[in-house]
Amino acid sequence: MPNDDEAPTGAPRRITILGATGSVGRSTADVVRAHADRFVVEAVVGGRDAGALADLAVALGARFAAVADEAAGPALSEALAGTGIACGAGEAAVMEAATREADVVLAAISGAAGLAPTVAAMRPGVTIALANKECLVSAGVAFMAQARRLGVTLRAVDSEHNALEQALGAGRPEDVTALTLTASGGPFRTWERERLARATPKEALKHPTWSMGAKITIDSASLMNKGLELIEAHHLFSMPAERLEVLVHPQSIVHGLVHWRDGSITAGLAAPDMRIPIVNALSVDGARLDLDVARVDFAALGGFTFERADTERFRCLALAQAAMAQGGGAPTVLNAANEIAVAAFCAGRIGFFGIADTVEAALDAMSAARLPAPGSVADALTLDAETRARTREILQDRASRPIS
Ligand SMILES: NC(=O)c1ccc[n+]([C@@H]2O[C@H](COP(=O)([O-])OP(=O)(O)OC[C@H]3O[C@@H](n4cnc5c(N)ncnc54)[C@H](OP(=O)(O)O)[C@@H]3O)[C@@H](O)[C@H]2O)c1
Repeated sequence: MPNDDEAPTGAPRRITILGATGSVGRSTADVVRAHADRFVVEAVVGGRDAGALADLAVALGARFAAVADEAAGPALSEALAGTGIACGAGEAAVMEAATREADVVLAAISGAAGLAPTVAAMRPGVTIALANKECLVSAGVAFMAQARRLGVTLRAVDSEHNALEQALGAGRPEDVTALTLTASGGPFRTWERERLARATPKEALKHPTWSMGAKITIDSASLMNKGLELIEAHHLFSMPAERLEVLVHPQSIVHGLVHWRDGSITAGLAAPDMRIPIVNALSVDGARLDLDVARVDFAALGGFTFERADTERFRCLALAQAAMAQGGGAPTVLNAANEIAVAAFCAGRIGFFGIADTVEAALDAMSAARLPAPGSVADALTLDAETRARTREILQDRASRPIS
């Protein structure tokens, strides 16, 4: 048994955090600070919030900070003046942060915006701890090929995938018959159609078990998040679409199930606390790191429940499942259209059901079922941009149509 008091062996690992000011990024910062003897922070990246990024860079003793929004550059420079922390703004600065020497890069930018920096961070020997599922949805084939070609170690940070990664250690890949990902069901699990049609962004942002960034919280309410996660699992675990299933489990303690050919099932369980998959994804060679977390009190929980997902009320899940089964360019289109639709819902331009309607219209308009899978990350980004433009047109057309 490992000794808790044992001093860590080897040099500290150099870590870069992409999306450091977000929900996953901050949980990662907590884990890194709790293991200050094991990690040194090379770079931190944020989107817009220069003040928050500067505070984090100082607290973590980072060497470099990059903010994606050019306009936030002067505020970042001012906030870091005299600290000795170098900084930059704009795409080139984000790419510089991603490509600086590091042992592990935690990829937690939200959306397809995370794709280019995450791929740029790939190099022989590096570990990518992947939270950004949109990378794999948008460019799964190219992303996985690049990781394999460069000898990158991929570690799953998404709680379901991290649980599955651990559970898969109980046997051989060829003996797996199916994988189950659980879903909390989100805030609208029990809502009737009529009420759902009037659901507001504020209501959608009230997640029952997880505290997360806005985009993933809306995706959880629509169950698109689970659809994106199925596609993520499809690529991460080379699992055919028909052997991936979803089960709603409102308690969010069982995150994933591995079904074996002999009828055995291995489950991955943990409290709904993102620091748990993060600390696991940052561990090396199966040696576990401490985390100050209360043990799950199963007796107090009383019981677990499981139910099938309702793809009639939550059509985004059905659209994602269809896109996964179709393959080709469909998942790229699905992801890009969903990002635009979620932004439109948050801005009050469309209703809750409008998210699925918009994504479906974009899949049709782009003839997504017939598009080949993007062969490179650049191809995925081109298709992503074309889909965003087409989806905006769809939304404009609908907004200008007279109400009959
Ligand atoms: N939250 C969770 O519990 C959870 C669980 C599993 C997987 N994930 C996945 O992890 C990713 C991050 O989720 P989150 O909930 O942490 O999101 P979040 O709270 O919205 O944080 C997103 C982070 O990305 C930064 N960012 C946004 N646009 C950027 C850009 N163009 N370039 C560089 N940085 C940019 C943001 O900076 P600003 O703050 O300055 O905008 C922020 O640091 C998503 O892909 C999500 O699906 C999240």
